[in-house]
Amino acid sequence: MRKNKKTFIDEVIRVNHAGEFGAKRIYEGQIRFLKDTKHLELVKHMYKQELEHLDYFNREVVNRDVRPTALAPIWNGLGFALGAVTAIIGNKAAMACTVAVEEVIEEHYQEQIDKLACYPEEKELCSVIKKFQQEEVEHKNIGIENDALDAPAFAILTRCIKKASKCAIWLSKRF
Ligand SMILES: [Fe+2]
Ligand SMILES: [Fe+2]
Repeated sequence: MRKNKKTFIDEVIRVNHAGEFGAKRIYEGQIRFLKDTKHLELVKHMYKQELEHLDYFNREVVNRDVRPTALAPIWNGLGFALGAVTAIIGNKAAMACTVAVEEVIEEHYQEQIDKLACYPEEKELCSVIKKFQQEEVEHKNIGIENDALDAPAFAILTRCIKKASKCAIWLSKRF
């Protein structure tokens, strides 16, 4: 059965707001600990775009009167910690973290884009999500082009980060 529209849109806004906040915190953790100038500049570029994404969903939370996730304090700590730990391991692990997270977000946004097609009145929201999705893909490609695949234990590292990201998405929709 199709979910009631308000419930669905509220979930979209809540989870995207939480996710963009998490992304901001991951990159803040990386910016704090990355030493290499080239990688630091790449992360700062992605961070700037995450701030724009977060800003949009911040406004939508208010405009649409959506209850934000109650789990923000957890994403605040865990996001920063994930960014910090991967940056401390090294540049490649930091890039692998981006590849893993953005791959999950790309799929997550695609799922929303597909579902939003049923609501012509939400065309604007859908096109903003499409734009953000393209930027997340750009972030993933930056990671791949900057040696993410050579990170120590790339497969295990990214599998763990993807699992954690999917779990965070599931929780943030609901709580
Ligand atoms: Fe983002
Ligand atoms: Fe991103």
